[in-house]
Amino acid sequence: MLKTNMKFFIHTFGCQMNVYDSDYITQCLLNMGWQRSGSAEEADLVVVNTCTVRAKPEQKASTLIGRLSKLKKKRPEMILGVVGCLAQEKGEALMERFPSLDFVMGPRQIAEIKETVSKILETRDRLLALQLDHAPPEPEHCPGYFEGRVTAFVSIMQGCNNFCSYCIVPYVRGREVSRPPHEIIKEIKEVIHQGVKEVTLLGQNVNSYLWVTDKDKWDFPRLIQEVGRLEGLLRLRFTTSHPKDLSDSLISCFVQVEPLCPHIHLPFQAGSNKVLKLMKRGYTREHYLGLVKKLRQVRPDIAITSDVMVGFPGEGRDDFQKTMDLIREAGFDGLFSFKYSDREGTLAASMGPKVPEEEKAERLSILQEYQKEMTFKKHKEMVGDVVSVLVEGPSKRPGQFMGRTPTNKIVNFPLDNGMIGHEVKVKIVRANRNSLVGQPVKERGLN
Ligand code: 5AD
Ligand code: SF4
Repeated sequence: MLKTNMKFFIHTFGCQMNVYDSDYITQCLLNMGWQRSGSAEEADLVVVNTCTVRAKPEQKASTLIGRLSKLKKKRPEMILGVVGCLAQEKGEALMERFPSLDFVMGPRQIAEIKETVSKILETRDRLLALQLDHAPPEPEHCPGYFEGRVTAFVSIMQGCNNFCSYCIVPYVRGREVSRPPHEIIKEIKEVIHQGVKEVTLLGQNVNSYLWVTDKDKWDFPRLIQEVGRLEGLLRLRFTTSHPKDLSDSLISCFVQVEPLCPHIHLPFQAGSNKVLKLMKRGYTREHYLGLVKKLRQVRPDIAITSDVMVGFPGEGRDDFQKTMDLIREAGFDGLFSFKYSDREGTLAASMGPKVPEEEKAERLSILQEYQKEMTFKKHKEMVGDVVSVLVEGPSKRPGQFMGRTPTNKIVNFPLDNGMIGHEVKVKIVRANRNSLVGQPVKERGLN
């Protein structure tokens, strides 16, 4: 039997998919009667949701697990579990390295969190759950869980079939499986019912969403159109798209589907065709730049953000220059940039020649310096514009609120009444490097 007031704490590393999975686990535990704890120190159950996409997040997760293992030495009754992508990759090794771990569970088995925790409480056995062929779980509804939140993520598919040569994701999240559209729509209706106004549809490659039955076929554009019709949904976003699968029908959704925000995250990874080929990305720089052009023709106000890495095996200085040229030509609103790191078991890990760390660091800093100025320039161009901002909550600056433009730019502004969850018109008065400062505009006819 569960003692009363059992408390849990979840630490989440990694991408939005991990945030979504942690929300799922939280709802399962709340539905079991557990309560949230403000810190690991006071929790009866601590879960670390891990990422292994690059060396850095992997190191961070390992360090935290080490620290929590020491905490458990002082409090042996505490249950310690590791979930997520590093759990899947290094499951058995983690169990060996950290004898105090009670369970290790991969991303495709989180539906078993309730049984796992109950079993450990009963038997104190150590459990390893690393199967990859499980379908995504049905939504776990915890009444009121999303109340007070303006935005939410909803997963539409799991896994990835692309096997880009650098990427660990297909090995740790398994093959692509789309969720049934009726389940996705039910989950979105539920979060809207609880007050959410903006939903981001999640998948490793949302463009290949597909649900086929004898009578019916849903592709991603159809899903976007149907979700876009749901009453009460002010804004819709999706991430991540793969350039090789970005169809014209999806591009036209940016015009046809009213709540779909004019922002797309479209990772290009490298600007040299030689490197793109080694990466097994399935497109060329010309194709990518063609997509950027098409998107801007269809929706001139669209913001485009991307991911790029430097120092892929065999990337020469000339290849890096091609990456820089692509960045200059595309004019990204924002860019996430990384140094390539070997991921064990991937094709690229056995490719050569490796680029020295100092060279990678130098390329990264040239790239980041350029993009910093580009982002700032785009922000400065917005000064004087009146934009629609969905108010998400109090800002870090006292007395201020924060929200985002449809193009996903963060705006801080003063607001004196409770407009959280509403779209307000804000005039941009100052540009910062990472955000904008605004002043709410009184609309004529109101007040
Ligand atoms: N090394 C460096 N960056 C990587 N990414 C994925 N795998 C690696 C790797 N092995 C980056 C890609 C991806 C983002 C989530 O992380 O840019 O889009
Ligand atoms: Fe997300 Fe990939 Fe990291 Fe897993 S490995 S948490 S899917 S970014």
